Amino acid sequence: MRVLVVGGTEFISLHLVRALLRDRHEVVVLNRGRHPGRVPAGVKTIVADRKDHAALGRVLAGERFDGLVDITYAPTTGDDVRALLAALGGRAGHAIFVSTGRVHDHALPIPYHEDTPRNLYWGEYAKNKIEGEDAYLGSGLPASVVRPTHVFGPLNTRNNETFFFDRLVRGRPVLVPGPGGWLRQFGHVEDLADAMAAMLGDRRAFGRAYNVSGEESITQVGFVELIAEVIERPASLVHVAKAPFGQNLVYDCHAVYTTTRIRAELGLRPRYTLTSGLAQTFEWYLREGLDRRDVDFSQDDALLAAART
Ligand SMILES: NC(=O)c1ccc[n+]([C@@H]2O[C@H](COP(=O)([O-])OP(=O)(O)OC[C@H]3O[C@@H](n4cnc5c(N)ncnc54)[C@H](OP(=O)(O)O)[C@@H]3O)[C@@H](O)[C@H]2O)c1
Repeated sequence: MRVLVVGGTEFISLHLVRALLRDRHEVVVLNRGRHPGRVPAGVKTIVADRKDHAALGRVLAGERFDGLVDITYAPTTGDDVRALLAALGGRAGHAIFVSTGRVHDHALPIPYHEDTPRNLYWGEYAKNKIEGEDAYLGSGLPASVVRPTHVFGPLNTRNNETFFFDRLVRGRPVLVPGPGGWLRQFGHVEDLADAMAAMLGDRRAFGRAYNVSGEESITQVGFVELIAEVIERPASLVHVAKAPFGQNLVYDCHAVYTTTRIRAELGLRPRYTLTSGLAQTFEWYLREGLDRRDVDFSQDDALLAAART
């Protein structure tokens, strides 16, 4: 298949490009061209800002694809999605839109399945993603929606698992906001990329939305303790009322999703458990020398000093 990936040079989209190349697809990426060195050999880049609708029309004129994976959040509105689809003029094949589990109403009891009502619990982000989902599923094209939750793994641009690696490898305590009992669910980025690569062109997925994540949910405290066990470092946890905790793991509700639909309908299941995925990500972290990077712990130190008084 000739596949257009919107994005292609950072995290989820770069892993998808690698998975598509492995599966011998022809890959074209569309981005603003800020990181040309990250585009793998053999991949064509179309340079455009997806928010510039006139530019999309120019650069995509005459292009034809068998698959489209719309990943970049710029922040991407329903109008931006419709502009991309108009620029492609129906020459997109099967389209996959990367949405988020945060379209679900998180005031409802967990777990959230694909038919859990969507609402604006998560504000503008949810609004844009719901509009994007509806633009694809209402476009008349073969389209599917994937809803990941917290994605982790090598190249992560969110400082989540790396936030705890940074503290634990240096023997530093980890601050926990409140009791740290809110449940989180994580999915490995390679599993997400593999699921999307496998889904492309599969007629069973047309018109369907899928939660795509690892199966295990874990509390905030449990996540730190699991990381400490995996990387074989002692964990010292200090509970305070408020503290930074990863880049985006502080919020006061559970985030737990079922993954039954993608397993039952498409036969897709993750390769990584949370434990094996964290071990593989820690190997990458060490390989990149991130254990020696400069980290500003002044906020941690101030909170720890205040906790001792
Ligand atoms: N990470 C998570 O935990 C998580 C969870 C749920 C859902 N998601 C969804 O996953 C998607 C993001 O994945 P990601 O963070 O891994 O990033 P990513 O897919 O690697 O996306 C970044 C890419 O988008 C390009 N880009 C950024 N702004 C652009 C613009 N205005 N026009 C064209 N290209 C642009 C960047 O290249 P240039 O800078 O060169 O343009 C880069 O190639 C989002 O839709 C997000 O909502 C993520």
